[in-house]
Amino acid sequence: MDTEADTARDWWRDAVVYQVYPRSFQDTDGDGTGDLPGITRRLDHIDRLGVDALWLSPIYPSPGADLGYDVTDHAAVDPAFGTIDDFDRLLEAAHARGLRVLMDLVPSHTSIEHPWFRAHPERYIWSDDGPANNWRAAFGGPAWSRDPESGRWYLHSFFPEQPDLDWRNPDVAEAIGAVMRFWLARGVDGFRVDAVDRLIKDERLRDDPPATRPFPLYLRPEVAELELRYSGDRPDVGTALTALRHAAGDALLVGEAYVPTARLEAYLEHLDLTFCFELLHAAWNADRLGEVIGAAVESGGCAWILSNHDFPRLASRVGTEGARGAALLLLTLPGPAFLFQGDELGMPNGAEPAAPIDRAGRDPFRTPMPWDSGPGAGFTTGLPWLPLIGDEVGSVADQEADEGSTLALYRRLIRLRRELGRGFQLLDAPEGVLAYERGDHLIAMNVSGERTALPWRGDVVLATGPEPDPLETGAGVVLTTA
Ligand code: GLC
Repeated sequence: MDTEADTARDWWRDAVVYQVYPRSFQDTDGDGTGDLPGITRRLDHIDRLGVDALWLSPIYPSPGADLGYDVTDHAAVDPAFGTIDDFDRLLEAAHARGLRVLMDLVPSHTSIEHPWFRAHPERYIWSDDGPANNWRAAFGGPAWSRDPESGRWYLHSFFPEQPDLDWRNPDVAEAIGAVMRFWLARGVDGFRVDAVDRLIKDERLRDDPPATRPFPLYLRPEVAELELRYSGDRPDVGTALTALRHAAGDALLVGEAYVPTARLEAYLEHLDLTFCFELLHAAWNADRLGEVIGAAVESGGCAWILSNHDFPRLASRVGTEGARGAALLLLTLPGPAFLFQGDELGMPNGAEPAAPIDRAGRDPFRTPMPWDSGPGAGFTTGLPWLPLIGDEVGSVADQEADEGSTLALYRRLIRLRRELGRGFQLLDAPEGVLAYERGDHLIAMNVSGERTALPWRGDVVLATGPEPDPLETGAGVVLTTA
């Protein structure tokens, strides 16, 4: 039987987590970049959505080659975002509202400007005479670069400014463990663990073989030419994960393992959850969605995610109406759901800035939040770091005033998910319709783009579309069948 302590520890089992991209949430000092006091000021918005927790994308000091994912000090706050006192105030204010806070832990690499790179070169992975193998960096180009100072080559799974740490060196586990304890001692509730499939590479650094079949997650074309067999996702990743678990104690660990669902098991032995990226990348048709969801539910530890700061916005991928159906899906599947800031407004991709900031092309997914229709969209009194979204999407203030808005839909869905039963059963459904049961509720989502009469009857609790009879089509509909 569950004890009360178990229940408190497992707060995340059915949680909705809201991803805050701090740079784009709310600026308070007019420099055009969001900051920690801004998040504290906007906690009302997060709270009113009804979510359980927020995940903060990195707030650590960073030269910005990967906007915070290139860290120079894992146990400090970048002055662009504020101070450690601002952080403590945010944490306290979030907790006072019953909102938990997850940090973004970046253990697989540091910034090349991190003091460790010079003071502790043995914490990184080196090759003396040129690249040790054919591995490719996730954002393109070879995964090895020459360090002009030592003349040796270092491994980087991402940008050259992000040298990979060597998790086969116990010092690394010790150092990252200390970082985790630093944040846990301040009171954070857990970590989203970045690039966790890259922690352990092949000990012999063997070449990745040519790919023989497509990878079910998006990869840049030159990366997709190789099978990522030795450059990550190794069978002995558990040695690194054990160390993370040891440092985290009971705190929540959500792994960003960028691997197919069938490979998640090794991660779930140590982490509480892993994102299910197959859903994010699934072709938007009922058969594929059903297949991906069925397998993910079986895996037992999937955190649902349809969008984040790395991929095109949901509304740009599946259209405005489709994005409302996607919200229904995200929030009625069994288990925790992660929702990216701005999706609750149905935000599409933003404009590319004249001078791109992210070299991997992800600026349009990180557009600042439009809070109101005033100057700077209520986001900043200064010059926003990225172009603001145009009037194709209503601001938070506009949508607050509109019962039919996407924001109102998100709020209703998050309330409704608390009433859904624990069970989950995919149902046979008409062509183009994905349907499943959660206890006494039946959820159907029409992704065919065609009007389709649904065969079920019951009381319509919620419909995502404006149709007079949601059973006659409905991008998405929830019925009670009892
Ligand atoms: C993860 C992050 C991404 C970052 C990369 C390297 O995939 O989500 O934004 O660029 O790791 O840290």
